Amino acid sequence: MQDTALQDIRSAETLEALQAVKTKYVGKSGLVTKELGSLGKLPPEERKARGAEINAVRAAIQAALDERESVLKRAALDARLQSEAIDVTLPGLPLPTGGLHPINRVYDDLIAIYRRLGYHVVEGPEVEDEHHNFEALNVPWYHPARDLQDTFWLEDGRLLRTHTSPMQVRYMVEHEPPFKIVVRGKVYRYEATDATHESMFHQLEGLVVGERVSMSDLKGTIAEMARGLYGPSARVRFQPSYYPFVEPGADFAVYWDNPRGESKWLELGGSGMVHPNVFKAVDDLREAAGKPRVYEGLTGFAFGLGPERIAMLKYGIPDIRYFYANDPRVIGQFRGELG
Ligand code: PHE
Repeated sequence: MQDTALQDIRSAETLEALQAVKTKYVGKSGLVTKELGSLGKLPPEERKARGAEINAVRAAIQAALDERESVLKRAALDARLQSEAIDVTLPGLPLPTGGLHPINRVYDDLIAIYRRLGYHVVEGPEVEDEHHNFEALNVPWYHPARDLQDTFWLEDGRLLRTHTSPMQVRYMVEHEPPFKIVVRGKVYRYEATDATHESMFHQLEGLVVGERVSMSDLKGTIAEMARGLYGPSARVRFQPSYYPFVEPGADFAVYWDNPRGESKWLELGGSGMVHPNVFKAVDDLREAAGKPRVYEGLTGFAFGLGPERIAMLKYGIPDIRYFYANDPRVIGQFRGELG
């Protein structure tokens, strides 16, 4: 019986199997226990020797059970540690980080170019008054841009700026020339939305004022921006255009070897030489604020462009409304890498 028991113990592969073996031999009604119970039926002179014999078998079985149990417990623990162990060679879990919105990426590109050229970056209020948004920019009261169809008017007579150009006025009232600035920010227009029109969008406005600032400075600046955005082969085209606050005025477009193979002239924005009436309106505001008139006789150029157009082309985004719909399927593609 001892031999079979030791054999059973050795072949128990799990703690449960070992428990069954234990019950079979040394449990309450186990084989060894039964043998001990039957000692009473033996004649007294045989009992002692037989009892010692059975107890030795029981001790041997118990020792084997204990040893096997510690081996199996150790193995179970090892298996658990193994399954819980960290595999340091696995790639890490992605952290749910934010990312830069495509419009901010384009702003960053543009602003890096203008910083290199020595421009300061400024921002201004989105709620404006009629004087800064229109009047001081030489936009007469009868100009169609003032129409209810273009402007979001507030109940107190103020409005949501329709362009970043009012910051030309605000900056010139506060600062003396010469200077070079770019303005970044949101603008608002009361129009029906479609794939290329949103009621809120962005602009980057530039303003340079000094002595003998010229139209060729403007052209060189826009060309430099185009090369900064699209590489040395980028070409720039200027077309006469009309904005009340510049004279002459010109729209500009860029052409370059588009990697998507859809090369064409990309209309980027408007520009021109600051209209003398704007300088005069600024000096009037300065005078009213007790500041010296400093703009008469100077020249300057201004330009304004929309980062949405650049971003749509750069990232292949077909509809301007995707930028602001907060759809994670769109915005999520710009998560992670910053820049
Ligand atoms: N403010 C003009 C617009 O929103 C753009 C512009 C800026 C044109 C500066 C000329 C000079 O359309």
